[in-house]
Amino acid sequence: MIVQLDGLHAVKHALRFAPHLVDAVQVADLSAARALVEQLAPDIADALLALAVVGDVSHPTGVCGTAQRPPEDRSVLTARTTPLLLLDEPRHPGNAGAAIRVAAAAQASGFALTGQLDPWHPAVVRGSAGLHFALPVLHVTPEEVTGPLLVLDADGDDLGVIPDNAVLVVGSERAGVGPALRTRADAVLRLPMRPGVSSLNLATAAAAALYAWRLNAHR
Ligand SMILES: C[S@@+](CC[C@H](N)C(=O)[O-])C[C@H]1O[C@@H](n2cnc3c(N)ncnc32)[C@H](O)[C@@H]1O
Repeated sequence: MIVQLDGLHAVKHALRFAPHLVDAVQVADLSAARALVEQLAPDIADALLALAVVGDVSHPTGVCGTAQRPPEDRSVLTARTTPLLLLDEPRHPGNAGAAIRVAAAAQASGFALTGQLDPWHPAVVRGSAGLHFALPVLHVTPEEVTGPLLVLDADGDDLGVIPDNAVLVVGSERAGVGPALRTRADAVLRLPMRPGVSSLNLATAAAAALYAWRLNAHR
């Protein structure tokens, strides 16, 4: 399956994390692309310029590309050494993309979602800036995921230490975490908020929880 990479940042991340999967790069102007990549991402400049072909590019960075979708690594659903981020039925592709981006940054073992949204939808890939290539990205059913299941909910108990092999479950924009995952939860945990604020955006909640784990794990 072909994945569209929109913009320099998406191409850059694909080239950094899965160079063997990138099969084409288009640039609007070769010397402008050379200047931009040498300034912003010199580590992948040679690889990008070796593939670059001049053509029509609508992205403002003047760079786009295509890559092959990586083979699925579903082993993270049952065994892992860093948390797995699981979104329960997210609706907004931008939120899912932002969550993948923070999962990659915090070094989560993987990202998964349940529900209708395709995690490889072009709008989700745009939202992650190509960081789909940095970790396993999976569509799952609630039953497939095992391990300490920590459901995030504004009405839960105080967040404590997050185990390295946790599954951090974040709910949808409207409905929160559904019963299929909530009834299997080992704990329901909250991120503290100022009185009067009802909830965080789901990608923000994912970021706060993943960094609570990461800052503690790397102390
Ligand atoms: C926009 S919120 C959903 C709000 C929804 N109306 C509800 O009742 O849960 C999206 C998800 O972000 C997470 N979340 C948001 N704020 C949180 C908080 N303060 N503590 C823990 N999780 C939170 C939860 O997983 C929630 O399901």
